[in-house]
Amino acid sequence: MNSTRPLRLLQVTDPHLFADPTRRIYGVNTAQSFGSVLADALGGGVPPPDAILVTGDIGDDMSAGAYGVFREAIGGLGAPVLCLPGNHDAPALMAELLNSDGFQYCGSAQLGAWGLVLLDTHVDDDPAGLLAASELERLESSLREFADRPVLVCLHHLPLPTGSEWLDGYGLRNAAELLSLLGRFPQVKVVLAGHVHQAFDQQYGPIRVLATPSTCAQFTPGTATCVMDLRPPGYRWLSLSPDGSIRTEVMWLQDWLITKRPRDDRI
Ligand SMILES: [Fe+2]
Repeated sequence: MNSTRPLRLLQVTDPHLFADPTRRIYGVNTAQSFGSVLADALGGGVPPPDAILVTGDIGDDMSAGAYGVFREAIGGLGAPVLCLPGNHDAPALMAELLNSDGFQYCGSAQLGAWGLVLLDTHVDDDPAGLLAASELERLESSLREFADRPVLVCLHHLPLPTGSEWLDGYGLRNAAELLSLLGRFPQVKVVLAGHVHQAFDQQYGPIRVLATPSTCAQFTPGTATCVMDLRPPGYRWLSLSPDGSIRTEVMWLQDWLITKRPRDDRI
């Protein structure tokens, strides 16, 4: 890959797919909304990005079939697919089913001038996240390896509060430990998350911390309890320059009308 031009990445997150592609959550057929997002992002002759990042909650029913539905929808779009688990995922199944033939599960990657690190924050039977000591060690080792290049760190659980009390109760339990580690490596430019089903963009020191709307349904920002949003499915483009600067934009499906708030039945 030519490392003198900006890296072009598509992020899709929290598709919450099922083995049965007719199933719905939050009032949405998640397989259908995922397909609509991919068509919106990559249809109409748009050249494939350098990679597609998928930041967790890929499956919702812990089934191999859900990852089959995912592979079918996103494989063959002309871009490698880098994925990591969310709280609703089955990490062992993902490692088995999403780590070959154009798919990568966690680990790290060098793309153009950038280094990427994909972390696992999944905890069994817990909607909150935690980085195990082994993941923190792996991150530190990758950051030493990527000492001379800008770095993007991807994970499911956002390490900063959103301001929604209920949602922040399901955040990354050792976020302070992560942020302290990242602070020792000035080449870290971006942290990219999912989980919060809303757009988030804050600067934490030199690090741009981003989260992205789900490909199915959104949570209303800044609420004490869970209130589903009327915003449509979304996704994010990132353009990462070799000098470490970035441009990014959240896109929302324009032709997806929600007239009634879905039931707040999931996280
Ligand atoms: Fe989710």
